[in-house]
Amino acid sequence: MGLLESVLHVAPVMPVVVIEDAKHAVSLARALVAGGIPAIEITLRTRAALDAVRAIANEVDGAIVGVGTVRKPQDLKDAEAAGARFAVSPGSTPDLIAAAKDSALPWLPGAGTASEAMTLSEHGFIFQKFFPAEAAGGAPALRSLHGPLPEIRFCATGGIGAHNARDYLATPNVACVGGSWLTPSRLVAAGEWGAIEALARAATLLRA
Ligand code: 3PG
Repeated sequence: MGLLESVLHVAPVMPVVVIEDAKHAVSLARALVAGGIPAIEITLRTRAALDAVRAIANEVDGAIVGVGTVRKPQDLKDAEAAGARFAVSPGSTPDLIAAAKDSALPWLPGAGTASEAMTLSEHGFIFQKFFPAEAAGGAPALRSLHGPLPEIRFCATGGIGAHNARDYLATPNVACVGGSWLTPSRLVAAGEWGAIEALARAATLLRA
């Protein structure tokens, strides 16, 4: 199993984290790991993101930290330098595809249509983020893609929560789902790590 494949299969859910303050990163990651969710995507949407990745990579045993919202080649370099073990993008661009082929960092590019998924597969990227999952047709769309594109495995993300995750996870080409529901900003800001651990533990039970 390749590194990306093992990251996508380590748990049913990959938390997508928007972190406002890097000082929360270690406690947040420890809570997720304690709840049974080791692979964590920290999105590059805040200034705290790379410091958070560095802190988790250095201090949290058992965490597999990745960087999300990677949009340009420099983001891949920054992610690797910060200690990320994988990178995730909402889509793909020719520049990013070229940079990812040159990089040692495993990359999960995004696709929302058959054409995007086919282009990425042609470049060798058979693990993809299906985004924005609910808006792009949800689990029925993924089931439809499975017939013609049977080699591709998806992490479905965007509009997924505890209410609909099982439907995605029962789809044969879905390796895991991603979502922000395990780390609500209110709980993070309040330091409610026990509540986040409980959300993580519930998420480990979602695979049918
Ligand atoms: C994202 O990149 O924002 C993820 O897709 C998370 O989406 P969600 O907030 O709908 O879970």
